[in-house]
Amino acid sequence: MIIPTYQERENLPRILDRLLAAVPTTSVLVVDDGSPDGTGAYADERSAADERIHVLHRTEKAGLGAAYVAGFGWGLERGYDVLVEMDADGSHAPEQLPRLLGALDHADLVLGSRYVPGGSVVNWPKHREVLSRGGNIYSRLALGVHVHDITGGYRAFRAEVLRSFDLAAVESHGYCFQVDLAWRALNKGFRVVEVPITFTEREIGTSKMSGNIVREALLKVTVWGAQKRWSQMRSLVGRRSQPIAAPDSDQRSATH
Ligand code: GDD
Ligand code: MN
Repeated sequence: MIIPTYQERENLPRILDRLLAAVPTTSVLVVDDGSPDGTGAYADERSAADERIHVLHRTEKAGLGAAYVAGFGWGLERGYDVLVEMDADGSHAPEQLPRLLGALDHADLVLGSRYVPGGSVVNWPKHREVLSRGGNIYSRLALGVHVHDITGGYRAFRAEVLRSFDLAAVESHGYCFQVDLAWRALNKGFRVVEVPITFTEREIGTSKMSGNIVREALLKVTVWGAQKRWSQMRSLVGRRSQPIAAPDSDQRSATH
């Protein structure tokens, strides 16, 4: 279980307690980007008292994507078979973790999904829900995938999925990191499934969502979609041109 944190001093105690109560056998890695509010120091205290809890300190706020790349590297090095992403602010219910892990029996990547039947969003301001739903519709159309919640941040990976990626090459900094990884998994032919989750907006602290995060996602999804169409077009043209080229080259070899 990897929990990225930036300025989550008040949320971290609650989420750790809830998680360890729901799934006592789990190991937790907190990846803190030098939060000035002491989140990292609190994580250290918990880690000293509980061998299931680990902490990775990074020096500056470098985005959700970079924090997860570092966290995955840490987990893969230590040989974990399953790596899970979860927010620190209580939006993802640890009580629903067994459902995600159960679905891994028949999948390589399980996405906790707000937008499949049974999934829901609680207490989100209307504009956030519109942005999130819009982002998902746009991603589905641009990338041509049948995923309803490709931007969500509650998901379970089999280690082999992450091992198959060149994680150092993942450039997405913000929340489009989520789209990036799901897109990579789908392109590699891994089995990706969605299970319904209830996403509840945080009660304490503030979201780190920003205009830059939205712009990065929009730009990247558009580029990935265009690259896919481009390579589809090229392979189509390549297939068509072959039968035409063949008699041509036969002729040439006959005349020479
Ligand atoms: N280490 C680190 N560095 N952690 C970060 C950073 C960062 O730069 N930015 C955000 N986080 C952590 C937060 O502390 C929190 O634990 C988690 O990442 C999610 O951040 P929020 O700011 O609470 O995200 P949100 O509620 O606006 O976004 C939700 O929607 C996104 C888009 O659907 C979450 O579900 C995201 O996971 C999701 O991608
Ligand atoms: Mn949040």
